[in-house]
Amino acid sequence: MKILAIETSCDETALALIKGRNGKVKVEKSVVLSQIQTHAKYGGVVPEVAARKHLEAIFPMLAKELSPGGKEIDIVAVTAGPGLSPALRTGVETAKTLVWLWKKPLLPVNHLVGHIYSAWINKDKQWTSDIPEFPALILLVSGGHTELIFAHSHGQFEKIGETLDDAAGEAFDKVAKMLDLPYPGGPQIANLAKYGDERAFIFPRALLDKRNFDFSFSGLKTSVLYTLRKIENIDKQVKADIAASFQEAVVDVLVRKTIKAAEQLKAKSIILAGGVSANRVLRGRFEMEGKKIQVPVFVPLLSYCGDNAAMIGAAAYYLSADKNNFVSPIELTPDPNLDIV
Ligand code: KG4
Ligand code: ZN
Repeated sequence: MKILAIETSCDETALALIKGRNGKVKVEKSVVLSQIQTHAKYGGVVPEVAARKHLEAIFPMLAKELSPGGKEIDIVAVTAGPGLSPALRTGVETAKTLVWLWKKPLLPVNHLVGHIYSAWINKDKQWTSDIPEFPALILLVSGGHTELIFAHSHGQFEKIGETLDDAAGEAFDKVAKMLDLPYPGGPQIANLAKYGDERAFIFPRALLDKRNFDFSFSGLKTSVLYTLRKIENIDKQVKADIAASFQEAVVDVLVRKTIKAAEQLKAKSIILAGGVSANRVLRGRFEMEGKKIQVPVFVPLLSYCGDNAAMIGAAAYYLSADKNNFVSPIELTPDPNLDIV
């Protein structure tokens, strides 16, 4: 089965061709055109600008990557939400046009579900080998979401906890701003943290002892702000120490809560997904703690941590087993607030 996948939920225009067979996937092509340079000057993503950029990019990308007529395609998959409404619409309308012309089935994919399935692509341009076993516990950490999800089987997701305020990626981006680092802040903080001491400042770890699986990062963000206000000479080393201590606090909470949930729910695998899963300290800590409780940890390849269409195609392959997941093009409208369950 061959799937064309389209992703335009935020600031990356992405297309992918995915093959699926015998419960495994293979990425044939994956192209991502980032608009980060355009949005960086505004300090964040401007939805209308994103949509215009997607429109400019998508047809040339299709023309370059696909043979006309789409004969080789069995399914067209597209991100239908959550995301920025005008941005989502460009991908959805493109997918609708293609399935109408090609007379192919259309499968809408939840962007968050897409991120989860990035963990099923563990080899680039080759058939996957090792895939997560169910039930799986997923920590989804991106710019807009921080959620703990319990997956009973393909497509059967249950949200068991989430952030009560900022998403983890959002906290990275906001603290980066406080340190005068450019957008997006996550990779910048991670880079600066390499030169800092993670024990230099003790930042709060919210809700760690609570029984639930929720998170909160706004207190941490405020604590960083107050700490910065108290320091007279904020030099490069202080910034690096703040970055390292902040990152340590985020990683500590994310890992400890997830491991606790995995143990309680007897998960057979742990999956880390979303843009923040590119963070090397977070990945390293998860692998170490997973070993201690003997639960295998799956992290996406670095190239599939951020937004991409390969993950949308992979999700579509596993979801295509249930015919209820397909829609007619007339029925499909993007939902910017789509939830995971
Ligand atoms: O999944 P994603 O690409 O877009 C959303 O769907 O939100 O996630 C983007 C988020 C941004 O907040 C970015 O700062 C963060 O992921 N991020 C990181 C790292 N790389 C990206 N955060 C921490 N460490 C990183 N290495
Ligand atoms: Zn994303």
